[in-house]
Amino acid sequence: MLRFQVFVAISILLFTLPPAIPALTAQTLQWSGKAYGPDGPWQAVTIEIGSPPQPVDLLPGGSWMTNVISPSVCQSGQACYASDSGVYNPYLSTTAVAIDQTGAIHNSTYAGTVGALSTLFGTANWVFDTVLVPLKNGVAGNSLKAELDDFDLLVLEEAYSTLPDGTNYSVQVGKLALGSPAVNQSWAYLPNNPNWNGTLLTSSLFAQGRTPSNSYGMHIGSAVMGIPGSLNIGGYDQNRALAPASSQVYSIDHLPIDLLDIGIGVAEGQSPFNFTVKSGLMASGNSSIGLSMSVDVDATVPYLYLPSSTCDAITRNLPVTFQPRLGLYLWNTTDTQYKTIVSSPAFLGFTFRLNSSISQNFTIKVPFALLNLNLTAPLVSATTPYFPCRPGQGADGNFALGRAFMQAAFVGVNWQLGNGRWFLAQAPGPNTPSSALATAIGDSDNFIVTSANNWLDTWRGAWTVVSSTSGNISATGLSTSIPLNSRPTGLSKRTVAGIAVGVALGAIAFTAAAFLLYRRRVASARSQHSSSIGTSRHKSVVPPPEGSSSLDFGPRELDSTAAPLPASRNPVEMAG
Ligand SMILES: *[C@@H]1O[C@H](CO)[C@@H](O)[C@H](O)[C@H]1NC(C)=O
Ligand SMILES: *[C@@H]1O[C@H](CO)[C@@H](O)[C@H](O)[C@H]1NC(C)=O
Ligand SMILES: *[C@@H]1O[C@H](CO)[C@@H](O)[C@H](O)[C@H]1NC(C)=O
Ligand SMILES: *[C@@H]1O[C@H](CO)[C@@H](O)[C@H](O)[C@H]1NC(C)=O
Ligand SMILES: *[C@@H]1O[C@H](CO)[C@@H](O)[C@H](O)[C@H]1NC(C)=O
Repeated sequence: MLRFQVFVAISILLFTLPPAIPALTAQTLQWSGKAYGPDGPWQAVTIEIGSPPQPVDLLPGGSWMTNVISPSVCQSGQACYASDSGVYNPYLSTTAVAIDQTGAIHNSTYAGTVGALSTLFGTANWVFDTVLVPLKNGVAGNSLKAELDDFDLLVLEEAYSTLPDGTNYSVQVGKLALGSPAVNQSWAYLPNNPNWNGTLLTSSLFAQGRTPSNSYGMHIGSAVMGIPGSLNIGGYDQNRALAPASSQVYSIDHLPIDLLDIGIGVAEGQSPFNFTVKSGLMASGNSSIGLSMSVDVDATVPYLYLPSSTCDAITRNLPVTFQPRLGLYLWNTTDTQYKTIVSSPAFLGFTFRLNSSISQNFTIKVPFALLNLNLTAPLVSATTPYFPCRPGQGADGNFALGRAFMQAAFVGVNWQLGNGRWFLAQAPGPNTPSSALATAIGDSDNFIVTSANNWLDTWRGAWTVVSSTSGNISATGLSTSIPLNSRPTGLSKRTVAGIAVGVALGAIAFTAAAFLLYRRRVASARSQHSSSIGTSRHKSVVPPPEGSSSLDFGPRELDSTAAPLPASRNPVEMAG
């Protein structure tokens, strides 16, 4: 009798449950197959902007608006490095919209504007346009292009970085922003509309019902070592996050975590150094560094931005020379130690607070093979291997671990309307499945499940174990020690260079034409209103009332769903 009742109860439950909703899977972004400098190579993803679509390659990372390069950054008569990755000309798009209320960056540092590429200086404007994002729905799922309207874009019209010696060099590739603490970037837009919204990648795909959450999981990989990039929206590839994964809160535009120490170690075999382990490098020789130091993990900047005392302590052990003109360390490539170190299982280890704990820590190991990056033109005339420590804070005033570090780190964020978490874990080496079923990040997940893979196994065969004691170079070089069939997949350096040259040649013709047209349009538009872009659009922009700029709606975040913003770090606050 009892059993029957239970059966009835279960039956009723089954029949009253709504039909099963197909579980949403993460959406996988497609990498472009090209890599960019001048301090990389860095792998990129492709999106198409505007109507008709203009394809551009962008480095994924950071938050708020996507930064894209306008043809005007190229000076006539000079090499146009930005044309390799593709430029976006809003005047060639029928769906581009600009409004006055966003403000603009005008002839100043970008670092004062949240979401702008912090290392740049120059002029940039917000534009909203339709984008197509090539996606793959799960492993077996269809490839498709998701359309996002009013996508939040900062169009870089003049954009250069300055070397320590004062030399300027122009931006080469933009960034694809991966969401923000708010669903949209919103501005007051009177009188017609309470808010004008720029849309963002992760929240738009979630709102379209394509992903299980407003989140992402990324490992940028390494072009040199043949580790393909991995970027999922609404989930992550578990193979890219090796245990443990640390979970901590994010800030308005950064992913901060406490760094406890930096050390040098060797994963297997003998040490290429005259020591086997060296720790204490973070605070070495600097009594003002306490037990921990907050750093931002930031895919929008290239280097490791650390106190000069820390860079000194690390590089004292390496065959490198500081080059003041560049503010970077160049590998002494003629030193016999150089080849040994950058092909050995030696690594730079970064020890962090685990889950904001006061007693637990974890270490992310970055093999020196990944810290053997290349400077290229226009920074140097011939390709020059460098070690990416940059003494001092980044342009935004924080110590930061940029893309050099993120080659070995998994980073994910579950935005959850400003109350979410970000995740940091060890990423694998070249022995990693190039495609795998993505794991969903649930809407309110504050932790992620990691892979049980052993980090050492992901690097075995890709490095040369040092077999004798320090000072002795192992007889086998890197190339002969890797069995051909275990060679990492991905692009060889030569392929990357070949593609880059091909694209450059093709792009020059296009850019030249676009540039001329753009120049003409900009020249005639400069004196007029910026909202003249996109007048043919269905949602055509109504010019704000005369003198509205003095009403002080100006650059202000008004999205009520956002976490309260500290006044001094307003996401659309402008310098100047
Ligand atoms: C974000 O902005 C878009 C475009 O204006 C709008 O359709 C959407 O409803 C907004 N999202 C939210 C949560 O308000
Ligand atoms: C813009 O987004 C905000 C909240 O994010 C919402 O309240 C508003 O309705 C949106 N405006 C439009 C035009 O969709
Ligand atoms: C010592 O560390 C502090 C950060 O705590 C940093 O601001 C300062 O520049 C460092 N000094 C040197 C000489 O690197
Ligand atoms: C990390 O944790 C281990 C084990 O508790 C401890 O021995 C070590 O000193 C910690 N390292 C740092 C840098 O705090
Ligand atoms: C280097 O190796 C040789 C033999 O392979 C050995 O005799 C010598 O002691 C080693 N040098 C050092 C510094 O250990």
